[in-house]
Amino acid sequence: MAALRLAVSNVILCLLLPSSSSSSSPICAARMQDHVRTAYHFQPAKNWQNDPNGPVYYNGMYHLFYQYNPHGALWDVGNLSWGHSVSGDLVNWAALGNALDPTAPFDANGCASGSVTILPDGQPVILYSGIDAERRQVQNIALPKNPRDPLLREWTKPSYNPVVPLPADVSADNFRDPTTAWLGRDGLWRFAISAVATGVGTTLVYRSADFLRWERNAAPLHASRDAVMAECPDLFPVAARGAEGLDTSARGPGVRHVLKVSMPDTLQDYYTVGRYDDEADTFTPDEDVARGGGDDDYRSWRRIDHGHLYASKTFFDARKNRRVLWAWVNESDSEADDVARGWSGLQSFPRALWLDPAGRQLLQWPVEEIETLRRGRAALLGAEVESGGLREIGGIAGSQADVDVVFEIPSLERAEGLDGNRLLDADALCGEKGASVQGGVGPFGLLVMASGDDLREHTAVFFRVFRLLHGEYTVLMCTDLTRSSTKAGVYRPTHGGFVDVDIEKDRSISLRTLIDHSIVESFGGGGRTCMTARVYPEHAATSSSHLYVFNNGSDAVRVPKLEAWELAPASVNVVPEQEEEEEEEEDGLAASSNMCTSSVY
Ligand SMILES: *[C@@H]1O[C@H](CO)[C@@H](O)[C@H](O)[C@H]1NC(C)=O
Ligand SMILES: *[C@@H]1O[C@H](CO)[C@@H](O)[C@H](O)[C@H]1NC(C)=O
Ligand SMILES: *[C@@H]1O[C@H](CO)[C@@H](O)[C@H](O)[C@H]1NC(C)=O
Repeated sequence: MAALRLAVSNVILCLLLPSSSSSSSPICAARMQDHVRTAYHFQPAKNWQNDPNGPVYYNGMYHLFYQYNPHGALWDVGNLSWGHSVSGDLVNWAALGNALDPTAPFDANGCASGSVTILPDGQPVILYSGIDAERRQVQNIALPKNPRDPLLREWTKPSYNPVVPLPADVSADNFRDPTTAWLGRDGLWRFAISAVATGVGTTLVYRSADFLRWERNAAPLHASRDAVMAECPDLFPVAARGAEGLDTSARGPGVRHVLKVSMPDTLQDYYTVGRYDDEADTFTPDEDVARGGGDDDYRSWRRIDHGHLYASKTFFDARKNRRVLWAWVNESDSEADDVARGWSGLQSFPRALWLDPAGRQLLQWPVEEIETLRRGRAALLGAEVESGGLREIGGIAGSQADVDVVFEIPSLERAEGLDGNRLLDADALCGEKGASVQGGVGPFGLLVMASGDDLREHTAVFFRVFRLLHGEYTVLMCTDLTRSSTKAGVYRPTHGGFVDVDIEKDRSISLRTLIDHSIVESFGGGGRTCMTARVYPEHAATSSSHLYVFNNGSDAVRVPKLEAWELAPASVNVVPEQEEEEEEEEDGLAASSNMCTSSVY
């Protein structure tokens, strides 16, 4: 109770103190730390989270499990549990107790990533990697203790685990992350899993008639000679036409497949569209998407996201007939900062994804439920942003917003020339040609999380059009973090990616950006190129953040339409007051700092 009273008085203190003095108040120091906490992205109330696990829609409820360290804000593999939350709308979440803790011999050193599959009788099953008492990675199942509990609160790990022990040719620490299982024509279940088998990085397939006894298929689903271990594989069907999602077991004409892996060496997610042979259980990438290196190097595949986003995982949402992607977005300031805040890691806002009409790549888009959070709206209609122009989009909270804008390009004549070699490293190109480097057609885009004074702090999300040697055009998208924070030692990279559009024909390009205090998620060209960035601006501790449209190209660009909405905070894993009262004073402080943040935005 004492803690709660303290919490309440903190809120008042933070609000009453003028911003200049609040930074010197010891109580508001806690709040200052937590201007980083998000308002509508998925986070547990405290502690470390990483990979999304077992996302599923079951009995009218969305479930998200996640890699969770219940003991602190840093990664601690031996203590990894499965946190568990439920939602009716993918936006507001209620926290339940952990679904899995490392308590059995077959997961004594950690409950690593995995999936949920719903069997034909309606029974959900967790399939996950345990790190066993001998530190081997093995595959286990868990079942709901009470299948009639609509929230699936408690899970039982049968003592006959592991259902798949470590194979003789696989190294002990390279066998993990089973996918959601799918049912073949022959009535057998299959799941895919990452492994290093006889020294080769592969994605293996296991088959089973009863979900208990699993047999490895001799041929791997896919093998990569160049890259060693991949992790968090995901194999899922997409409709050749249209945005509707498909059940993981869907097959037949009009169904294509996507294979995605996460590469620990680059900490990036890669995918390709291809053909899954459901008899041989092999996957062959389409030729035209295996760009750059050979198709056996995952790192030459397309990126799920060109910023920092990892360990993504999709599920089929039968409620709205769509496929939805979750992914972990890590912190990029210091571990000391994470410990001080008491938490680390976000999930990206859930994205619907589908195949683009040309069949070459995925399109990703925030799920429409985000619109339920929209409050105030600001708009710009039929505006022209001249060379060097900067226009503020006022009237909404710039730190909690959803911005959707279309840029029209009157002329491509002054596009800068670009050597084809430069297509290989978009990050470097964005680093060289940042927002303040004037160009021909672009840079134009948004300045977000900008300080009100002199733009001392701002994050730029923008496009730049280049003309290649043979005369065709290419569009570069960048998120430039070099001025995102004035704090010493903060990671401030430039993220870049090309957008696969025909700008000569379209003469326009769209940008959607979700801003949430310390995360900026951008979707260029209708979700063709996605870019997630973490930002830690100092000004946000004590003052509001601003939003602008800018153009630093030599020609004007037109903005036929820009809409920006302020987003209300979602209710994400809020700790009920009763529990909070029982917590120690320190936790009371952390909780109060959230309240402060949400009232200051
Ligand atoms: C798990 O957490 C506990 C409590 O913080 C700690 O004592 C223990 O060393 C951790 N175990 C491992 C394997 O890291
Ligand atoms: C997390 O952030 C750092 C920057 O601090 C980055 O270099 C790293 O690759 C990221 N890790 C993951 C798993 O995304
Ligand atoms: C545009 O370019 C000028 C000149 O380099 C620079 O001062 C200004 O900061 C740039 N604008 C942005 C948004 O970077």
